[in-house]
Amino acid sequence: MKHLKFILVLLLMTNLLSCKNENTNPESVAFDSYIPPVSWEEADAKAEALLAGMTVEEKIDYIGGHNYFFVKGNEEYNIPRLYLSDATQGVHIRKNLDGQLEKSTAFPCPISLTSTWNTELARKYATSIGEECRAGDIAVLLGPGMNLYRVSQNGRNFEYFGEDPYLAARMVENYVVGVQSTGTIATLKHFICNNTDFRRRTSNSVVGERALNELYLPAFKAGVDAGALAVMTAYNQVNGEWAGQSEYVINNILRKQLGFKWLVMTDWWSIWDPVKTIKSGQDLDMPGHGFEENLPTFANQPNPFLRYNAKRLVDEGKVKEEDIHRMAKSVLRVSFAMGLDKRPVKDTTLLAKFPEHKEIALQTAREGIVLLRNENNILPIDKSKSPKILLTGMFAEKVPMGGGSAEVEGYDNITMLQALQDEFGDLLSYEKEPDDNQITSADIVIVSIGTSDSEGYDSPFELPKEVDDMILNVASKNSNVIVVVNSGRGVGMTKWNNMISGLIYSWYPGQTGNVALAEILSGKTNPSAKLPISIEKKFEDSPGYPYMPEGEDFYTGWDTDFDMSLPIYDIIYDEGVFTGYRWFEKKEIEPLYPFGFGLSYTIFDYNKMKISASKIASGDLVTVECEITNSGKKAGAEIVQLYVSDQEASVPRPVKELKGFKKVTLNPGESKSVSFVLDKSAFSFWDEESKNWKLEPGNFLIHLATSSVNIKETLELEIQ
Ligand code: BGC
Repeated sequence: MKHLKFILVLLLMTNLLSCKNENTNPESVAFDSYIPPVSWEEADAKAEALLAGMTVEEKIDYIGGHNYFFVKGNEEYNIPRLYLSDATQGVHIRKNLDGQLEKSTAFPCPISLTSTWNTELARKYATSIGEECRAGDIAVLLGPGMNLYRVSQNGRNFEYFGEDPYLAARMVENYVVGVQSTGTIATLKHFICNNTDFRRRTSNSVVGERALNELYLPAFKAGVDAGALAVMTAYNQVNGEWAGQSEYVINNILRKQLGFKWLVMTDWWSIWDPVKTIKSGQDLDMPGHGFEENLPTFANQPNPFLRYNAKRLVDEGKVKEEDIHRMAKSVLRVSFAMGLDKRPVKDTTLLAKFPEHKEIALQTAREGIVLLRNENNILPIDKSKSPKILLTGMFAEKVPMGGGSAEVEGYDNITMLQALQDEFGDLLSYEKEPDDNQITSADIVIVSIGTSDSEGYDSPFELPKEVDDMILNVASKNSNVIVVVNSGRGVGMTKWNNMISGLIYSWYPGQTGNVALAEILSGKTNPSAKLPISIEKKFEDSPGYPYMPEGEDFYTGWDTDFDMSLPIYDIIYDEGVFTGYRWFEKKEIEPLYPFGFGLSYTIFDYNKMKISASKIASGDLVTVECEITNSGKKAGAEIVQLYVSDQEASVPRPVKELKGFKKVTLNPGESKSVSFVLDKSAFSFWDEESKNWKLEPGNFLIHLATSSVNIKETLELEIQ
């Protein structure tokens, strides 16, 4: 009997272990996904029992939004009302709605968070946002947004997690667990291939299956596996159908292939054919009303909203009551799974945590601001030499932020001018438009530039001519120029990059991020961030170029975004699996700043790289180790990147791909060992024939690198 028990336990363990080996995320051998307080089955049964007693009209009330950001509740049935609110970088306060939070923390934008490569910080950042949701009665956070960085011109890049699917996936899974650990539902968005905001409602992303699986799906898959309870579909068409009403996108890819079993909602005003929508696997039409005059109509109906059309469609036999039942059940199930019928969403005790959130925002900026250029060690600025520092430029007096639904105003915002004055006191002077004398007599000139990116439209990669001219002018008169860029994406810097001494990518820093910038300038904080994107020398070099329809130009504002009379244009993803550094490396195009790059005030050495075996059987795990030493004079953190190169394959594969990273903090002279466990996902590609991941035996190279272009150590591995 005892033996039997032992064998059973052993069997169970082997089973568990083999399940873990199946996991597509090697680091997730120890990753704990979010498990809702009430199981899917229990929540489902509860929803079913309630719906069984409802009329079709009552059910229809749940499949569309109310008052723009709500899903209706019902006191009689104890069904909670849901308030859904944006988004990924903090709570967007809707001033026109009652009972809003008085303030919310403006965190550095998600692309800045990604530059930290710090998964634990991603979790804390998201936990803070989840807590602010709870304090503000928000049941569903409309984030994280996670569309891959394909074109630098995308107005929403600031909201997302960069160009690499592996890095994005690791950040996103932690984000999801962070938000949901607070009892707030996370929404993965925008599913899928909404990689530009240029006419997003009237664009069609034409994408192949391999690129979808290797690049655009992994972050969503990671979010699904981490336990996200909601997904928002995208505005654009995917391979010929609007994502929000596409059976291929929702039922086939999201539900069947990725295994997502919870709530799917539309993006705001993004479905046009109610029959298709109801049959696609979509659950919830948001916001479900409004702007009727802007919307295209199908089959002589005055609007495409589900709540408006569903009953007629049931009566006409075009959809079945069971379709409506399925959708309403999905909406109710998610509330019950989160236990929202058993406790209030609103928890004002969490307001006490705002100071902690502010600190996390500051820490994110400290670790997210990237030092890209430091000629003659102009940085850190040595205060003991009493240099005369001149500050000028665009965002000295105004905290820059991304616009649209993701916008977060923040509170106690600290401008660059304020932060630099606090750090450098009288050494700093500020001039909006300095004259030649002020420029030449300064020891150091700090020039603030950037872009105001927003949802709804894209912006040119090149900066406006006046901005370039301003930098060229200052740099021609002073050889100690430091440029600080506030933007949510890569911008054109080639014209003046070689003429300046320092370059800092500060993204959208959030309410306190300028304090971190000042600390980096003075050396109080040693920069450790690395770019989660490649910044091209010119836009023509980039993988997505060209994508805008010929003859059309950039626009701003919301009118074009909502103009459904415009012809659909195709965005052909013909670069396939080669986007970001995969593109630059394959095409042998040198970017201005490569993926994974960022400088520190100290030096890191890589030594004693070893691998657990030089030959393994297909499917075996392999461990890679290395010792990292801080051989400089300052404490600092290094982000060790592991890339894999397939030496020979039956399909074209990227030169190398990121398959692991570790952030290690070291005092001067200190060494630490880092180790990575690689499973078969590190070596596999998506096979279009078998519609699955495929590992082809052969030789692989494993690189440990300080950036995508600076490999420190390489070892060979043979997979049999
Ligand atoms: C955006 C979504 C957002 C929604 C609600 C849309 O315009 O694309 O990301 O969640 O508005 O504000």
